[in-house]
Amino acid sequence: MIVIPTLPRAPAAHVDAAKSALDRALGPSKVITADAGCAPYARDDSAALGTTPDAVVIATSREDVAKTLEIAARYGIPVTPRAGGSGRTGGAVPVAGGIVLATHALAQIKEIDRQNLIAVVEPGVVLAALHAEVEALGLFYPPDPNSADLCMIGGNLGENAGGPRAFKYGVTRDYVLGVEACLMGGEIVRSGKRTAKGVTGYDITALLVGSEGTLGVFTEATLRLVPKPRQVATMLALYADVHAAGASVSNVVAAGLVPRCLELLDTQTLDAIRSAGNAIDARAGAMLLIEVDGDDAMAACERLGEVVSRDAIDVVVAQDEAQRARLWSARKALSYATRKLTKHKLSEDVVVPRTEIPTLLRRVEAIGERFAVRHLTYGHAGDGNLHVNFLWNEDEEAAAVSMAIEALMHATIELGGTLSGEHGIGLAKAPYLAIEQSSALIELQKRVKVAFDPKGLLNPGKIFPASGHRSC
Ligand code: LAC
Ligand code: ZN
Repeated sequence: MIVIPTLPRAPAAHVDAAKSALDRALGPSKVITADAGCAPYARDDSAALGTTPDAVVIATSREDVAKTLEIAARYGIPVTPRAGGSGRTGGAVPVAGGIVLATHALAQIKEIDRQNLIAVVEPGVVLAALHAEVEALGLFYPPDPNSADLCMIGGNLGENAGGPRAFKYGVTRDYVLGVEACLMGGEIVRSGKRTAKGVTGYDITALLVGSEGTLGVFTEATLRLVPKPRQVATMLALYADVHAAGASVSNVVAAGLVPRCLELLDTQTLDAIRSAGNAIDARAGAMLLIEVDGDDAMAACERLGEVVSRDAIDVVVAQDEAQRARLWSARKALSYATRKLTKHKLSEDVVVPRTEIPTLLRRVEAIGERFAVRHLTYGHAGDGNLHVNFLWNEDEEAAAVSMAIEALMHATIELGGTLSGEHGIGLAKAPYLAIEQSSALIELQKRVKVAFDPKGLLNPGKIFPASGHRSC
């Protein structure tokens, strides 16, 4: 269902020479070449099934990363970088064999500087571990793409991960002050700063963040921290339908209120939760999960309660930490829980101006009817970033799903939106890139790519439709 581009593999003699060189340079313990060991690295957390790589390198130092990229360039071998492998668009999925360069074992939190509000971390640090460590010191790293227990900093940077807290705090890129990255050929560059401000030269850090592993491989990141909010409160607002919930989102913003999360669940999503055995008020056709933080979260909750009550049929404030955690675990589990509903599911992450959410939801409804495809939508309504999920069982339905996705992409752009808010383009959305971007803009980006990776060996097949590498 996710189109895997057909790209040539490097000639077998080159692959064999590269494998021997990797063995010599890194030692066999860091280089997997057996098929059974390599096969799990053909996948990530999307539906994309790639090609089994010829070798997997488990890097344990920046030098390992550099040597791998030097050897790959020398022999013309494609390289797919990978950290936690929890991406949703096939970004870490190899499509031309070659080397998967795994950085999960580079997992050190090297420094937390409380005075300068900085953390220096390696790409294999699990996000939840960073959260725990900084929060124990009264600090806060806000990005959390809802998979903090699995995802790693390297992938968060690669995809510029977002998540529920982005409404107030912004996305990963807003917290990356500087990076160390290794380029194809083995050169190590450090970009950015450790200071709160800094405008020297082009913002290569911002370019690398969100480049989906196509420009360089992260070996270190310097992250900006903020003080940990003193209080957090979570509330649920139930609505008769999504339009009433959409009106509440607009009213909250218009009232100048900035909750850290403003999550919407539509009728079909609530039905899915109900069918999994959870009791939700039968009158509810939509829900907002709202979280506020700050010095007086309960006062903020009260103000929010007044605004959302205008459109809601019920508003419930979590009374304690356990109740808060329960609400969030239901939301966090949504992506996995909805996977169980049918044999196949594709989840998009389109963004529209938040005032267009009701229109987008109407368009989704119409698209579902037109192509007879089951759908459900939830997501980060405060950002206008919605996960529209298409669900199906039979292989014959796949063509209708493809048409529905394409129609969704067109509707998103017509409403002034963008194809991906947080999951990246990867393989999944590459066929739709030209719906949003002009050919001049796509060509400019490809020229940037050539400056970093002249032979197109780093993460080929991603972002740009039918982009290949030129080693063969
Ligand atoms: C979420 C992830 C899938 O919002 O983006 O649950
Ligand atoms: Zn999301």
